[in-house]
Amino acid sequence: MVINVVSNHLEELARKYALKAIEADRKGLRETAIANYKRAIEILSKIVKLYPNSPFIRVYVSKIREYQERVRYLEGQAVSYETTDLYTYGDLLDVDELIVREKPKITWNDIVDIDEAKRAIKDAIVYPIRRPDLFPLGWPRGILLFGPPGCGKTLLATAVANEIDAVFIHVDAASIMSKWLGEAEKNVAKLFRRSREIAKQGKPVIIFIDEVDALLGVHYNEVGGEIRVRNQFLQEMDGLRSKTLRLHLYVIAATNKPWKLDEAFIRRFQKRIYVKPPDFTARLQLFKYYTRGLKLSDDIDFRELARLTEGYSASDIKDICLDAQIKVVRELFEKHGGVGTPRPISMQDFLEVISKRKPSISSRLLKAYEEWFRAYGAV
Ligand SMILES: Nc1ncnc2c1ncn2[C@@H]1O[C@H](COP(=O)(O)OP(=O)(O)O)[C@@H](O)[C@H]1O
Ligand SMILES: [Mg+2]
Repeated sequence: MVINVVSNHLEELARKYALKAIEADRKGLRETAIANYKRAIEILSKIVKLYPNSPFIRVYVSKIREYQERVRYLEGQAVSYETTDLYTYGDLLDVDELIVREKPKITWNDIVDIDEAKRAIKDAIVYPIRRPDLFPLGWPRGILLFGPPGCGKTLLATAVANEIDAVFIHVDAASIMSKWLGEAEKNVAKLFRRSREIAKQGKPVIIFIDEVDALLGVHYNEVGGEIRVRNQFLQEMDGLRSKTLRLHLYVIAATNKPWKLDEAFIRRFQKRIYVKPPDFTARLQLFKYYTRGLKLSDDIDFRELARLTEGYSASDIKDICLDAQIKVVRELFEKHGGVGTPRPISMQDFLEVISKRKPSISSRLLKAYEEWFRAYGAV
């Protein structure tokens, strides 16, 4: 508690000096700017030293560097004063830069299993966009994908971008946060404002916020700011639901840590979809899918591979297949000077690769997701 208060205070102070510095800088008051940048640097360095585990360490460090650079620039330059590159400081998120311009190649067929999740996404987004007339009661605006890492949440959202003709805005929640303090909530507001503008021109807009738990500071509210970010986000989500707004504007959020989200936040997502880790059948399919382009020996027992990989994510299984392929390629280089073709991958190769790789989903973790799903799932 004491720590929170101290770091909050220091941060406020750093912010105050930084703002003064930027303002002076803008006005061409070189000396004042330098002095205040230096104070801000000093305090930020103190925070970094005192709270090396702060989730905002990256922000602090990058700000320190930025200000140091600016000071060096200002000190180096005597008379001629250029104001051109000033506005790169503390600027806001550029929403248009986050629009996915090129259609991703991922389609539903590239996503193995997780059929329930696919269906839920189609119900909630694909059909309402195609035939809004069939949804007189409106449609869900907020969809939360949750589940262990590497099981297809990001993949699923990407497939949506491909599947429908919509403007797809891909936001990594941390990027909203890792801007200068106090600007994070402005980023949220800007994200939604720009999205509404685009949707008003008649195109469906999907905002995909990956790792959305980063927006919430329930576990690290020592930095200030993120409570405001959360509130801004809730307010924007409510705006989406207002009855008069028939815009096709959707928010898909994904998280590996749903328990970091609080009740009010969860309630804003009408659909909460559990993207499950692969079961036996899904693992079987995944092995077949990811070895389809590889040369395999006859002794491969896919059922055995699936049996051995309980607790492995889809991403783990893909990596296992990659590793097995690398193994025979490496052998070709080490034993045959890289000439000819690698031998087919054998069952033994797979067994060795699997034994070297730990499953990424423990049964404890799995239980946590299932419990959360029982409490909050809404498909
Ligand atoms: N259901 C799946 N089918 C096929 N490949 C998958 C699946 N889930 C994950 N992968 C593979 O693992 C990678 C990481 O998955 P991702 O969707 O980013 O996981 P998450 O967002 O759930 O952490 C994907 O790019 C893909 O190669
Ligand atoms: Mg992801």
